Amino acid sequence: MSEFLKAMSFRHACKRFDTTKAIPSEQFESILEVCRTSPSSFGMEPWRLIVVRNEKLRKALKASCWNQNQITEASELVIFTTDNDIVRSDSPYVRTMFERRGMPTEMVDTYMGVYKNYLAPIEEDEILLENWTAKQCYIALANAMTYAATLEIDTCPIEGFDKEEVEAILDLEYGHSVAVICAFGYRINLQSAQMRLPLKSIVEYK
Ligand SMILES: Cc1cc2nc3c(=O)[nH]c(=O)nc-3n(C[C@H](O)[C@H](O)[C@H](O)COP(=O)(O)O)c2cc1C
Repeated sequence: MSEFLKAMSFRHACKRFDTTKAIPSEQFESILEVCRTSPSSFGMEPWRLIVVRNEKLRKALKASCWNQNQITEASELVIFTTDNDIVRSDSPYVRTMFERRGMPTEMVDTYMGVYKNYLAPIEEDEILLENWTAKQCYIALANAMTYAATLEIDTCPIEGFDKEEVEAILDLEYGHSVAVICAFGYRINLQSAQMRLPLKSIVEYK
């Protein structure tokens, strides 16, 4: 079996973490590096990661995350937030992100035009914009979880939270929002059986 598939079967949504085990900092930093190097639509990298280590903050968050134990028991807790204002088509950040590729100005202008057209129906609605930036976070999240599994580090992706409450607790800047949360650490219980639909019920060839 390939190393990747081994990691896919090692990974499960870990519900209870061993509170006595901490992820070595070098390994945790490499997980963050995997997030950083993940791809994003138009290369906009809208993710802004918050690593919550403060115990009081973790406790406050737990109450707004369906009281899930992972929030306080995991070795590391990463909140995938997004900066939604910065990716608006009139933001100077967007041009900078295209310019860094070293393209001639005319080509940057072309990219800006394509981007503006693409984003127009999205950026007119705050929720659509938040969903678009959140989608990019899920790519980083998936990469981080599978990569962590290669290091035998367990994870739990978490969508079970009150978004407004979590954003208030984290005191996010205006225009920023929470996309998803991920807990990282080491399992204390045996992994539950992996249940998946068979390929034939999810793949269609035409
Ligand atoms: C985006 C996302 C959000 C999730 N949110 C939660 C959550 O809030 N709490 C939880 O215990 N599991 C959560 N899960 C875990 C799923 O329930 C789990 O991945 C699914 O049941 C398959 O089980 P497995 O990952 O153990 O194979 C989430 C999974 C994903 C992908």
